[in-house]
Amino acid sequence: MAKVKLTSKVDSEVLVVGLAISNKKLQIESGSSQIDSASLLATLNAMGATGKADEVIKLPGKNTKLVVFTGLGEIKSAFDPENLRRAAGAAARDLNGNKSATFSLPHKSVVELAAIAEGAALGAYNFTEFLGSSKQDQKEPLSQVSVISKFADTAQAKAAAKRAEIIAEQTYLVRDLINTPPSHLTPDSFSQQLKKLSTKYGVKAEILNDAALKKGGYGGIIGVGQGSANPPRLLHVSYSPAKAKKRYAFVGKGITFDTGGLALKPANGMEAMKSDMSGAAAVIAAVFAIAQLKLPIAIDGWAPLAENMVSDNATRPSDVITIYGGKTVEVLNPDAEGRLVLADALVKAAEVGKKAGGLDGIIDVATLTGAQVVALGTRTSAVMTNNDEFSNQFLKAAEIAGESFWPMPLPVELRASLDSPVADLANIGDRMGGMLVAGIFLKEFIDPQTPWLHLDIAGPAYNEKSAHGYTPVGGTGIALRSLVQLAELASSQS
Ligand code: BES
Ligand code: MN
Ligand code: ZN
Repeated sequence: MAKVKLTSKVDSEVLVVGLAISNKKLQIESGSSQIDSASLLATLNAMGATGKADEVIKLPGKNTKLVVFTGLGEIKSAFDPENLRRAAGAAARDLNGNKSATFSLPHKSVVELAAIAEGAALGAYNFTEFLGSSKQDQKEPLSQVSVISKFADTAQAKAAAKRAEIIAEQTYLVRDLINTPPSHLTPDSFSQQLKKLSTKYGVKAEILNDAALKKGGYGGIIGVGQGSANPPRLLHVSYSPAKAKKRYAFVGKGITFDTGGLALKPANGMEAMKSDMSGAAAVIAAVFAIAQLKLPIAIDGWAPLAENMVSDNATRPSDVITIYGGKTVEVLNPDAEGRLVLADALVKAAEVGKKAGGLDGIIDVATLTGAQVVALGTRTSAVMTNNDEFSNQFLKAAEIAGESFWPMPLPVELRASLDSPVADLANIGDRMGGMLVAGIFLKEFIDPQTPWLHLDIAGPAYNEKSAHGYTPVGGTGIALRSLVQLAELASSQS
């Protein structure tokens, strides 16, 4: 885990500065540190440097072993925080093998400083747990990032540095969980591991095992999990500060592997379905981060966990299951499993929230549909809602956090396509608008009075292409930062 330090002078052997473009010319942006710009610029120009985002160039330095130039793109009067976050992250990602680096990037406020610290910490990640004989060849990521700032001595800057460490720590947890192969991450091991961590963060945790789920009437989680030798679980973590201003429930899809069940997915690409628990990882880690930040917001995190497998016990197309609370669902397609486990957990989360005095909002996070990826690609996630005010508040949080989310509708006309001749509803409807149909399915399990958001992160959760900015290949950690930011916005409201 990268430690974040604030400093007023270069305190390591590696100095990271920005390289921007102004009127088609390269310009070094080294924040408050002075460097020999003229000679370095001549070298950079001779090398054909562009200053574009994700370009990282390392040169030998005069006072440091290395000077690292990270692309900031077109120069602006102030650089947008996400631009700085990505530039810091791209440099950090390229510095494996170095113990520490000092980042001197332009910023005019603590908000921008916070983005630099966060980006650097988020970039200093790699996943080597399952390397065997090649592990020794691996270079460790940065263990410390220092950020040069004129705000270094202020309380706000210190809080921002601490916060960056927390965000990085919990994002690493989400990424690690996603990257862990399903041979080593089952519903049981996921829930055990996170229950253990709950103690560390002072968060309560409870696990319902398969026997308890059967007895309790969780037909969605049981139905999806019954084809697997690794039985399902429901993990519930709960952070309840004294004098909480608001209470939210976060519910994350936790399919530790999605084969599609009897609607078996093609072999090509199925390996990516180890990431089908990204929502569960994000919501539980968000609860941990909110607890570490001691925000005055009560949060219940719910992770319905199951492995969607093929066997003689697997759910058959046409089976009818009963979701927690009594609604019945005809399972026409066992590959539309996420909505089934989420339905159980959403109903339960609302019930528990009601007992605690009512929920101010309920948010589910899920790698739910391939249609999300078709509609918005791999870098933008979708938000669906029954409450535009809550959705706008979330979109504002996501914008601040530097995560790309886009609002999507829930057209009522699509509801009829989920009608079933034998049950209350079917688990699939119109193929066209599949992301929205999935949202409409979930809406059936939401109390209309409770503000609700459905986040479909199918594309952005798992990066199958190449690394960029602070985002590595594999699990990304998407949604965590927006959820934490939402709780922070709610904390600062009267
Ligand atoms: N986990 C998948 C969705 C998914 C696809 C996530 C690609 C990440 C990348 C989900 O369980 C699924 O299989 N959805 C089906 C639903 C369909 C059967 C209605 C889909 O999108 O094809
Ligand atoms: Mn599926
Ligand atoms: Zn799935």
